[in-house]
Amino acid sequence: MKYQFPEGFWWGSASSAAQMEGASQEGGKGSNVWDYWYTQEPNVFYNGVGPQTVTDFYHRYEEDIKLMKEFGHNSFRTSISWSRLIPEGKGEINQEAVKFYNNVIDQLIANEIEPFMALFHFDMPWEMQKIGGFENRDVVEAYKDYAGACFKLFGDRVKYWFTFNEPIVPVEGGYLNQTHYPRKQDFKAAVQVTYNTMIAQAKAIEEYKKQHQSGKIGVILNLSPVYPRSDNPFDEEAAYIADLFHNRSFLDPSIKGEYPEKLIEIIKRYNLMPDIQPGDKELIRQNTIQILGVNYYSPRRVKAKETLPNPYSPITPEWFYDNYEMPGRKMNPYRGWEIYEKGIYDIMIRIRDEYGDIERYVSENGMGVENEDRFIKDGMVQDDYRIEFVKEHLKWLYRSIQEGCNVKGYHMWTFIDNWSWLNAFKNRYGFISLDLKTLKRTPKKSAYWFKEMTKNNGFEE
Ligand code: NOJ
Repeated sequence: MKYQFPEGFWWGSASSAAQMEGASQEGGKGSNVWDYWYTQEPNVFYNGVGPQTVTDFYHRYEEDIKLMKEFGHNSFRTSISWSRLIPEGKGEINQEAVKFYNNVIDQLIANEIEPFMALFHFDMPWEMQKIGGFENRDVVEAYKDYAGACFKLFGDRVKYWFTFNEPIVPVEGGYLNQTHYPRKQDFKAAVQVTYNTMIAQAKAIEEYKKQHQSGKIGVILNLSPVYPRSDNPFDEEAAYIADLFHNRSFLDPSIKGEYPEKLIEIIKRYNLMPDIQPGDKELIRQNTIQILGVNYYSPRRVKAKETLPNPYSPITPEWFYDNYEMPGRKMNPYRGWEIYEKGIYDIMIRIRDEYGDIERYVSENGMGVENEDRFIKDGMVQDDYRIEFVKEHLKWLYRSIQEGCNVKGYHMWTFIDNWSWLNAFKNRYGFISLDLKTLKRTPKKSAYWFKEMTKNNGFEE
């Protein structure tokens, strides 16, 4: 069968500023939460490796962009670092950063690679976190000004903008399960931060529209399809609630301009309503997204914990689902996440049916592998498993397009093995492997496969 994608399909990969740039203390950059946290507790990071150098894209972008071109990219998704552009979070713009991002954008365009740019990928400037991060409405204003500055400086060339990458992740990590700064466990703060992030997004979109630029703006969400583990009504109800919190808390206001009633009801029932300012409702309603990025790795398999006094309590969201092994499910043997390729299709169809078939992209999908060096043969990582992974997801994506879904591109996570937050370089995801000592880049087998596939705008099997 031939999987021929529509003409003009965007092919490429994705990364983010903090995970690839490095030079975290150079070029006038201010610290972000990760830089700060590393100075406090380096051992929290896998093998003690922090965000200082990562893949060193800051110094090697020319070489890396040439490689992207060579390996079939017509687009690349990354982010701007707020703390590089505005070191204090608000106020003075760092001219060295302006020069750097201008160079990167120009170099991408010169190589016919369309930049897809996110404004925020988990990297809150430390000065902003010090005053409460998105718990504080002043930080929302600072974010809006930062977004406005990005549009003014780079919007003549960047036509695809994303306000946030996976905005629910720093909420869950920072305010519920302690894997992101500020490592609180506070459901009320989590709700406030979720809400204020949404306000920040709406303000950025409003600002973008004011500037009358010709591009599009949206958000990137990690939409995991949520399936109950059984047809037990408790599991079904728990799955419904998990979907409300993890997917719909951003999906609904971003596309429909309002929160699901059921979500508001639960938040009220538990006395967790955030502070809302006059005009907020209208602001959200009037500033919905134009494009959507979808990050997809694994589904959520939800089970209600009957042992809990109230299995539905939103105070304990991590207790009513998990992603662990389930008999009969296919698992990534090199990392431990479930692989369920049809999930990508289920998400796309759902958006078609329930969210107006908005223009969208797969903005992340990929396979992390521990100790990937064990697969080196003839000087190259023979990552047939990754080729298989991408191919099987593309088959389902193709099917969704055949069934009318408005899907315009696919970005694999990631280009060069990059740094992953607390896991640092534990799991390798790239098309290109990175030698941590020499920083030498060596294409893996999947890079050659991707090159061929994109040349044909699809594949046959
Ligand atoms: C989601 C995030 O956007 C990215 O930062 C992370 O490294 C990848 N997924 C892989 O887990």
